Amino acid sequence: MIPDEPLVLGIETSCDETGVGIVRGQTLLADAVASSVDEHARFGGVVPEVASRAHLEAMVPTIQRACDTAGVRLADVDAIAVTHGPGLAGALLVGVASAKALALSLGKPIYGVNHLAAHVAVDQLEHGPLPEPCLALLVSGGHSSLLKVTDITTGVDPMGATIDDAAGEAFDKVARLLGLPFPGGPHIDRAARDGNKVAIDFPRGLTSRRDLERHRFDYSFSGLKTAVARWVEARERSGEPVPVADVAASFQEAVCDVLVRKALDAASAEGIEDLMIGGGVAANSRLRVLAEERAGRLGIRVRVPRPGLCTDNGAMVAALGSAMVARNRQPSPLDLPADSSLPVTEVLAG
Ligand code: KG4
Ligand code: ZN
Repeated sequence: MIPDEPLVLGIETSCDETGVGIVRGQTLLADAVASSVDEHARFGGVVPEVASRAHLEAMVPTIQRACDTAGVRLADVDAIAVTHGPGLAGALLVGVASAKALALSLGKPIYGVNHLAAHVAVDQLEHGPLPEPCLALLVSGGHSSLLKVTDITTGVDPMGATIDDAAGEAFDKVARLLGLPFPGGPHIDRAARDGNKVAIDFPRGLTSRRDLERHRFDYSFSGLKTAVARWVEARERSGEPVPVADVAASFQEAVCDVLVRKALDAASAEGIEDLMIGGGVAANSRLRVLAEERAGRLGIRVRVPRPGLCTDNGAMVAALGSAMVARNRQPSPLDLPADSSLPVTEVLAG
């Protein structure tokens, strides 16, 4: 760590995690997260109003906790970064308003950054500067995209995306079908460990020769979700018990197989030798193993942040904000908006 590198505080509130991270340069000093996930579990999905209220309550204590962990005072902070989209409008507003209040009262610049780009930038905290270019497979509850990244502070180049459900959404929906709690990803991951991944041959979306012509780097998970639902229904009708571990393992294999296959195809097509995987689904243990295995055969290096940095957190926002400072990007105006449908290509609010 270089002592005079800027101290950046990042705020994340796009969904149900109130995250406050503090970095110096690209060194992580604190990553405080308060989650309202338990309050949503009984509804089977995030309730926006509940999330917004929880962010309001958690914001000040989470900022305090981050400062205590990092051993810094708010007055020491050189810049504030905040997720200003995409995400839940009300939830984003809490983070953006808090960041503006801090920036104004401390007299420090504010950087309104893109949540998806932050999921990519966070890897720098663990594995050093991102190779330029690299290919990012971004898989979360709301997005599944393949992005070519040359400089994360100026933009990303979308190569493909899901045409229906996001990968995390598919995990959450299939978990629900299997009677597993919300959010389903970690539960499927755990259940799959005791299952047989080749027990059921679930479909791989958009991989037929015809589909590949139009959707070579796109994903589709809604057909897979329906196939799992049909399979489980048929099993229940027959009166036999549903083999939860086998269904979880076979479903997970179908998702990970296609995610990795298309990501490596895109990297090869672009002559890119580094694949970065980010977003909540990147915490999946099978996805990590499969990517390593297959990429290794092609001479492609894989970078995946540790699971705690894959799911939503404030450190990723601080990491991207700090990269903006390091590359002398213009800070955002103090009246920057929260933008729930911010496109992935807009990495910094101008
Ligand atoms: O990035 P994230 O924390 O929030 C969004 O920006 O959406 O991603 C949340 C998603 C959820 O759908 C959750 O089920 C999934 O990430 N997830 C996982 C795992 N951990 C979280 N999916 C598969 N395996 C996991 N271990
Ligand atoms: Zn996310």
